[in-house]
Amino acid sequence: MTPAPTAFLEVRDLRVHFPTDDGLVKSVDGLSFTLEKGRTLGIVGESGSGKSVTSLGIMGLHTVGQYGRRKARISGEIWLDGTELMSAGPEEVRRLRGRDMAMIFQDPLSAMHPYFTVGAQIVEAYRVHHDADKATARKRAVELLDRVGIPEPHRRVDDYPHQFSGGMRQRAMIAMALVNNPELLIADEPTTALDVTVQAQILDLIRDLQKEFGSAVIIITHDLGVVAELADDILVMYAGRCVERGPAEQVFHHPQHPYTWGLLGSMPRIDREQTERLIPVKGSPPSLINVPPGCAFNPRCPYADVPAGDVTRTQRPELLPVPGATAHHSACHLPPAERTRIWNEEIAPKLRGTS
Ligand SMILES: Nc1ncnc2c1ncn2[C@@H]1O[C@H](COP(=O)(O)OP(=O)(O)OP(=O)(O)O)[C@@H](O)[C@H]1O
Ligand code: SF4
Ligand SMILES: [Mg+2]
Repeated sequence: MTPAPTAFLEVRDLRVHFPTDDGLVKSVDGLSFTLEKGRTLGIVGESGSGKSVTSLGIMGLHTVGQYGRRKARISGEIWLDGTELMSAGPEEVRRLRGRDMAMIFQDPLSAMHPYFTVGAQIVEAYRVHHDADKATARKRAVELLDRVGIPEPHRRVDDYPHQFSGGMRQRAMIAMALVNNPELLIADEPTTALDVTVQAQILDLIRDLQKEFGSAVIIITHDLGVVAELADDILVMYAGRCVERGPAEQVFHHPQHPYTWGLLGSMPRIDREQTERLIPVKGSPPSLINVPPGCAFNPRCPYADVPAGDVTRTQRPELLPVPGATAHHSACHLPPAERTRIWNEEIAPKLRGTS
């Protein structure tokens, strides 16, 4: 194992593969990134690109049979504040999970037990990690429900999850995730199931709470609008790998990968006519059992023939630093100057609606 990193969270070469009857599903295949406390990383990508599997891998949920009967094959290193989680025993992972890291799921109903009150579940989450009596834990639950904007928390604490609206359940799950002041919070599509107004409120809430607690946050979404609002850094995933990552400002304004250009093209923007049709990324994501050789994006990429020879179909592009930019990386065989030219002259004007 390599020496412990200085970053608060460092994921090194994470691989999560599922053996199935049809073959090995390589859901996450060599993902690396770092995250500091007080920062938010947005992980974006189409459905099936491996975003949720990544978060479950970081949380260590592969060890508790979350994936059904077949266990995932998982490798790599996950360093959280100096502790390597992959080689840590199940006891230690359980201790860290929920205390130092917590997760907000897309669907609160699947994360909350229908037969216990919301309060009882928050109390339980607290008492697993604290030597607190029931009254103290309940006080904490009410406090948290109040903090996440549940009206009349003293009364609602005794409600069952089904008595809450979708937005309130999401808030209650955030309360449950925050009850132990986690240093790492992973929010997997925290707002997809909610209407636009509630979405905005939940995102504001996550932002406020992060400011207050100074935690590191990973926000997973297929909606670039969400990360534009919240993320300091962005990691773009395609077919289980990172194709581009960097400061949000760089990735939004100087994207360096044709797939990111496609995602930006399919995103509604305030500066674009509402009537204009969104351009989805053409084609569909590859099977994760038979990922195309070379660059996995090549069957869908309009620029696959630009790099010399057959390189995009035979050689996997490495994630390399973008010249002249700090912390911005991209995995594409197009020469950097050519990427910049295509973006500036062909893509950006189209997205701004000026060509
Ligand atoms: N237990 C499993 N067995 C086999 N394949 C799996 C398993 N869990 C996930 N996968 C596959 O791994 C891939 C990545 O799944 P994942 O849920 O991470 O996608 P995602 O990026 O979160 O997509 P979405 O935006 O739809 O939530 C998918 O192709 C999925 O079918
Ligand atoms: S490596 Fe080739 S196929 Fe892949 S994104 Fe770059 S240009 Fe397109
Ligand atoms: Mg998902």
